[in-house]
Amino acid sequence: MKYRFREIRVVLSMEDIKNSQIRAEIPLLNQIIYLDAASTTPTPEPVVNAMLDYYHNFNANTGRGAYKTAVKATTKFEDAREKIAKFINSAKNEVIFTKNTTEAINIVARGIDFKKGDSIIVPNIEHHSNFIPWLELKKHGINLKIIKANKFGVIDAADVEKAVDGNTKLITTTHISNSIGSCQPIYDMGDIAEENDALYLVDAAQSAGHMILDVKETKADFIAFPGHKGLLGPVGTGFLYCKKEVSENLKPLNLGGGTVSNVTEEDYVFEPVPARFEGGTQNIAGFIGLGAAVDYIERIGIENIEKYSTKLTKYMYERINEIDNSICYGDPDNIHGIVAFNIEDMNSHDVAKILDEVKNICVRSGYHCAIPAIRHLDTDTLGGTVRASVHCYNNKEEIDILAETVNEISKFAGG
Ligand SMILES: Cc1ncc(COP(=O)(O)O)c(C=O)c1O
Repeated sequence: MKYRFREIRVVLSMEDIKNSQIRAEIPLLNQIIYLDAASTTPTPEPVVNAMLDYYHNFNANTGRGAYKTAVKATTKFEDAREKIAKFINSAKNEVIFTKNTTEAINIVARGIDFKKGDSIIVPNIEHHSNFIPWLELKKHGINLKIIKANKFGVIDAADVEKAVDGNTKLITTTHISNSIGSCQPIYDMGDIAEENDALYLVDAAQSAGHMILDVKETKADFIAFPGHKGLLGPVGTGFLYCKKEVSENLKPLNLGGGTVSNVTEEDYVFEPVPARFEGGTQNIAGFIGLGAAVDYIERIGIENIEKYSTKLTKYMYERINEIDNSICYGDPDNIHGIVAFNIEDMNSHDVAKILDEVKNICVRSGYHCAIPAIRHLDTDTLGGTVRASVHCYNNKEEIDILAETVNEISKFAGG
């Protein structure tokens, strides 16, 4: 299929952040209206340039060669880890590089020494990446206690408290739901985990880079991060924050080169954390890019991004919600970055396809890798939901085009 591109002329709003400057550094935004930050984000030029710099000037493996080019690659790679650690308020060796959020969660699921009879507490509206690993453990005698969210996709921390008992090994939740945009009570859950001596994992796939997230404040033992979503880093990057006190007891997922300090024919000795978790050659350019992305986010200011996105999300919810036969999901005062909606009697994929065809608007439709969450919203008959998601590079004018186009599409509903 051939896509038509057109230049999008927007009246720029200069509230809170220098939106025009950000847009100038993301050329893709001249061709499309990109409202799918929840899937991945377009990469700003300084991030692309940092990766190019690696490929052009010091393309070597890390932690291996003694020659100057290899040492430079290692230094830049570890500098990125340091920037990330500072950004989330952790120690440098509490940041384990992964290829995405899913891998970070699986390191936790496979690495904890679960015993038959242990239980895991998890909400019913998780992304599959924070659900399937626990369902798999259920097959091995681990109990899953599933906490039901309310109709807005929010769980009650009191229900978590009621579900905890002496067998609770792990409490986990997403911070922001990828299907509804609802924000979960992660700080209350951190208190509950601490009081009950349970491990605590937060899936920050939809909040990292969108809002202030200080790992210490969460009281989490583990936080799974994507590099390629809110943090504006390249695809193929993610990381696991793993608290120092628990990482020594976590079994690494990938054994092999780079993970050991000594090997005999009988046994091996692990490298200290995080190297023991990073088997094989890493996505070196990607993490150097992610370091540049963190610099980029810090230049804009994470507080500014949070404030700006909150306003933009609320505006988007209101504009879609005022359309006669639209259905918006989620509580407008408790959603962040994401508006999930439908048009009565229209399949969500049809709406998304028309938005793309007529105005080059990119939104996601369907089940969003969260089938239980979408069933919770009772939207099976509409093929799931349409999901529009924003970041600091989006603006009100784009939301107006989205709302006007959805309004036009809605006139054909049921026909
Ligand atoms: C809440 C949530 N968790 C996990 C994931 C998986 O992220 P990744 O693609 O980085 O593995 C996503 C992706 O959309 C998500 O939204």
